[in-house]
Amino acid sequence: MSQVVAVTLMFTTVPGIEDIVIRELTIKGFTVYSWHRIGVSELSGRVIAEVEDNVLRSIRTFRTVEKAYLVLSEGEIPGRDYESLRKLINDLDVDPIVDLFTPHITFAVRSVRAGEHEFTSMDVARLLGERVREEVRRLRGFYPIVNLDAPDLVIELDIIGDRYVLAIELIHRSLRQRRYRVYHHEATLNPPLAYAMNIMLNYDRYGNYILLDPLAGSGTIIIEGLHHYVRSMYYGVEIYRYNCAGALRNIVEAGVHDRACMICSDSTRLSNFIRYCDGIVTNPPYGIRMKTIDESIRRFYMKILREFARVLRDGGRAVVITPRRGLLEHAARVSGLEIVERRDVEQGGMISSVYVLSR
Ligand SMILES: C[S@@+](CC[C@H](N)C(=O)[O-])C[C@H]1O[C@@H](n2cnc3c(N)ncnc32)[C@H](O)[C@@H]1O
Repeated sequence: MSQVVAVTLMFTTVPGIEDIVIRELTIKGFTVYSWHRIGVSELSGRVIAEVEDNVLRSIRTFRTVEKAYLVLSEGEIPGRDYESLRKLINDLDVDPIVDLFTPHITFAVRSVRAGEHEFTSMDVARLLGERVREEVRRLRGFYPIVNLDAPDLVIELDIIGDRYVLAIELIHRSLRQRRYRVYHHEATLNPPLAYAMNIMLNYDRYGNYILLDPLAGSGTIIIEGLHHYVRSMYYGVEIYRYNCAGALRNIVEAGVHDRACMICSDSTRLSNFIRYCDGIVTNPPYGIRMKTIDESIRRFYMKILREFARVLRDGGRAVVITPRRGLLEHAARVSGLEIVERRDVEQGGMISSVYVLSR
C-alpha cells in the first residue's frame, strides 16, 4: 500500500478568493488536511495548505492559483526591528535549501512584506541571500551564483504582520497568463477570478447545463467556465462585432469551441433571442473605465438584471462582479433576484464585489 505524504504549500491568488482555491482542490479530488489565509487583511491573496503530495504533480492544472510555493517553515517573527530580522534569518533552518545547490544553479531571494516593520523587503532578501551563500560555501565548498533576472531557484521569505513564511517557488511564470489569450480586451477579467466565479455558481461540475455570459467581452468567463463544467454548453453575447470575433479566436485557441457559441447582439434585449439558461456568470461594464452604449449605467443595470430574471430557470443562479454595489443591489431587488452571497475581491487595483443571485 502506498503511503500518503503531506506537503505544505503556499498559493497566491486574487485577493478575496483564497477559500475558493481550496474549494477547487477538493472539487478536483485532492485531500486538504488543513489550510489558513495569511495576511494583514482578509484580502491577502495568500493561502497556506497542508495537502496530499500528489497535488505537486497537478499544480499547473489549478485554475484559481497564480503562483505556488513549497513551504519549508512558517512561524512568528521575534520582533519588528532590524536586529530581530537578523536573529530570525540566523535561526532559520536553511539546510533543505543548501542541499538543492550544484555549482551551476543560480538563485535569487525574494520577499513580500506587509505590516509595520523597521526593515524593508530588500533588507529581508539581502540578509537571507548572504546567509544562503555563506551556508552553501561552508557545507558544499562553493559560492552559489546569484541571478536576479532569471534564476533557476527562487527562495521566498515573506514577512506578513508578525508571521514569516520561508518557501521555494514551484512555478516561475504566473499561471494567470493563459496561453489561449490571442485577443486582448481592454477590460479583461483576471482568468483565476473568472474560474472562481464559475465555481461560485455551485453547480455539479459534471452536469449538463446551458450557461450564459451575456456581456462576454473576450470570452474569459466562457473559456474558464468550460474548463470547470466539463459537460456543459456556454453561450456568450457581446454587442461589438470585433469583441465577438476576438472572443471566438480565444475560444478556438483554448480548444473549447465544440461547447461554446457567441452571439453578436444587445443583452438589454436578451429574452428576444435567448429563451432559457441554467446559470449566468458575467462581468458587466462598470461605467468607470468604459462607456456603455447610449444609456446611463443605472438604466443599463436595471435592464440587464430584468433580462437575467427572464431567461434564468427557476432556482437558477447568476454570478455577477461589479464595483457598482448600489446599482447592482437595487436592480437585483427590483428584478426579483435574491442576493444569496456577496464577497469582496481585488480586481485591477480596485475592490469589486462578486454577487451570487438566485431566481
Ligand atoms: C467588462 S467587459 C467584459 C470583459 C470580459 N469578462 C473579458 O474578460 O473579456 C463588458 C463587455 O460587455 C459588452 N457590452 C456592453 N453593453 C452590452 C450590451 N448591451 N449587450 C452585450 N454586450 C455589451 C462590452 O462591449 C464589453 O465587451
